Amino acid sequence: MLLNLKHKIYVTLFFIAFFASNLNAQVLDPEIEEKVSALLAQMTLEEKVGQMTQIDVGVVTVMNGQDVDQPFDMARLEDAIISHHVGSILNAPSTPNNKAQSIEKWRNMTQTIRAVAARTRLKIPIIYGIDAIHGATYTQNSTLFPQAINMAATFNRDLSFKEGEITAREVKASGIDWNFSPVMDIGRQPLWPRLWETYGEDVYLASSLGSAFIEGHQSNDLSAADKAPTCLKHYVGYSFPINGKDRTPTSIGERMLREIFLPSFEAGINAGAPTIMVNSAEVDGIPGHANYHYLTTILRNELGFMGFTVSDWEDIIRLYSRDKVAASPREAVKMAVMAGVDMSMVPFNFSFYDLLLDLAQRGEVPVSRIDEAVTRILRVKYQSGLFERTEPTIAVNAHFATKEAEIINRQAAQESIVLAKNDKHFLPLSKKASILVTGPTANLLSVMNGGWTLTWQGDDESLYPKNKLTLLEAIKQKTSGKVTYVGGKNYQDEINIEQAVTEARTHDVVVLALGEKPYTETSGNIDTLNLPFPQLQLAQALFATGKPVVLVTFGGRPRIITDIAQQANAVVLGFLPGMEGGVAMADVLFGDINPSGKLPISYPRNTNDIVLYDHKPMESYAPNQYNPLYPFGHGLSYSEFETHGLTLDKTQIQVGEGIEVSVDVKNIGKMTGKETVLVYLNDVVASVTRPTKQLKAYAKVELKPNEIKKLHFTISADAMSLIGVDMKRQIEIGEFKVMVGNESVNFNVNEK
Ligand code: NOJ
Repeated sequence: MLLNLKHKIYVTLFFIAFFASNLNAQVLDPEIEEKVSALLAQMTLEEKVGQMTQIDVGVVTVMNGQDVDQPFDMARLEDAIISHHVGSILNAPSTPNNKAQSIEKWRNMTQTIRAVAARTRLKIPIIYGIDAIHGATYTQNSTLFPQAINMAATFNRDLSFKEGEITAREVKASGIDWNFSPVMDIGRQPLWPRLWETYGEDVYLASSLGSAFIEGHQSNDLSAADKAPTCLKHYVGYSFPINGKDRTPTSIGERMLREIFLPSFEAGINAGAPTIMVNSAEVDGIPGHANYHYLTTILRNELGFMGFTVSDWEDIIRLYSRDKVAASPREAVKMAVMAGVDMSMVPFNFSFYDLLLDLAQRGEVPVSRIDEAVTRILRVKYQSGLFERTEPTIAVNAHFATKEAEIINRQAAQESIVLAKNDKHFLPLSKKASILVTGPTANLLSVMNGGWTLTWQGDDESLYPKNKLTLLEAIKQKTSGKVTYVGGKNYQDEINIEQAVTEARTHDVVVLALGEKPYTETSGNIDTLNLPFPQLQLAQALFATGKPVVLVTFGGRPRIITDIAQQANAVVLGFLPGMEGGVAMADVLFGDINPSGKLPISYPRNTNDIVLYDHKPMESYAPNQYNPLYPFGHGLSYSEFETHGLTLDKTQIQVGEGIEVSVDVKNIGKMTGKETVLVYLNDVVASVTRPTKQLKAYAKVELKPNEIKKLHFTISADAMSLIGVDMKRQIEIGEFKVMVGNESVNFNVNEK
């Protein structure tokens, strides 16, 4: 339509911060800068290269060192810190596998490391890093939250902020300095075994929740006793492997990069994250660790990132050993450092140190580049207060795994559970009903926690705390009715179908818990989203009894449940709700809380029909369609809500202005509940194809029956922008459409 055609007049935007409540962290503190340059001036080349080296704690511990308080081989520790000047150590000690340690042991260990660093010439502290992905992973009895995919389903920034606060406190109480979290990759490939580490498929939601986490974790003062630096992962494009397997190639064009994958990192930088970990895979033929364009041109020159980048595990050497873009390990080191990697997670030896030292001595890597990297590392060490930190200063009792943290954790789990189907109000269950609980995920804690729980893969059930409840245990605790359990032997086969069927016949209802075992990274690669056949067989056999079935799922990915969901009376998607997941799920099943989780991903109907909610017009242009089993944003409640009266403050604005949106939301059901209102935008006609809709704002509110609340949102100018034909961010004048619920209103952006 001619009227809708836009003039080709564009306004370039200069990086308007998305969620910039704390821009200070990327602004340099002159006092710190002075200290950094004074220190740098005193450093030898060896000391500088050492700062850029990060080793696994296994290099300096006694392998197979059972659970002793002090697992170090002191000669090796001194060799690393005093002779090789290493700047950083990571991971949990091997005893023999990397696993969670007591908090006392962590405090002793990190104290030993500090003491050795204090004996070095310049007394530069080590920065100790850990993957505290959903809480302090490797500290026994820590508060372990729902995984990021669940936090996204809460649509609750406060909870993400509080998760950040509690995680930082428990990491610091453990004597650890630095958290390799949050994952800011956008989860748009459901096969990818790390989907659950992301905040889902939407750019705005991930940016918003990840920023809230960072703000809670760091506040304005990284050096506070209970705050710690975060690390944005995995910059950039890691989450979108073409074949779905971890650490395999993707091909992301510059526009898609800037529209989809970059903004969450930008938001994280603006929220103050001082470190960034590099993508372990490759984008369009360039391995993440060799990508100068991403690591320097965009990250430094455009986004103004002032902290340091750290490689992922062994990834510099892999430029040679795996990717063959370097002809030798030496060339690999040169390539990565010159591309913009500041610290190498080597992690098992000093090869990086030796090679970089040699490269610098021969002038093949300029000392100026090394100075730049070391400046960034020292800056973060000063910002984090590490030079003053002489011991873990947080008292454990009042600050670690508190009752208050447990309550917040339980609320997060409750709000993250998605009631996807509830035929004829089948749920909530009566507490008098007799229930058969069955299925491979009904009686394990590991299936609700996933990877990065007590161990890397999270699959050692024997390490899980004895006081936390599985779904079965939580159900038993809640009801006065008879509860029978028929377990399966594992996820793939030998589920005891016959016995489950016999028991189903004598109970009022079946709670069938299916899903995935825990995993992360490459160990979680799969070839199909289909559930293992024995789980489907169990479901079909139970449906055949004619007894009502509540299907509960746990796991990190949307495994295909289309056929069995259709036959189930209710479907509740648990994903990975963490240590309070069993209790939270039982709270939902019995109606002790009203479910409010909404899907942060599109739940596919079929394994190969993966269309995301913010798809392009041609993806839903007949005969194509967006037809997931459950769409992005779907999630039922025991109450019902409606939105109406969508209005804009103006229908004509000038380019560069924002627009105010208001809408009423009403609880039209019979139970108090929480509802998330989602505000979408569509750029009606543009010079490049636009998503049919994109989330631009959301709010979660609690409403009593019949209560109405008026909600106000701002759609900023930035939210109206696109990456134009010239690859620059800009706003095109013309018509835009705002959508909330069943209503939509248009407005026009006019030339100034
Ligand atoms: C590899 C993973 O890709 C990354 O997420 C993690 O932070 C590092 N290993 C350190 O454990």
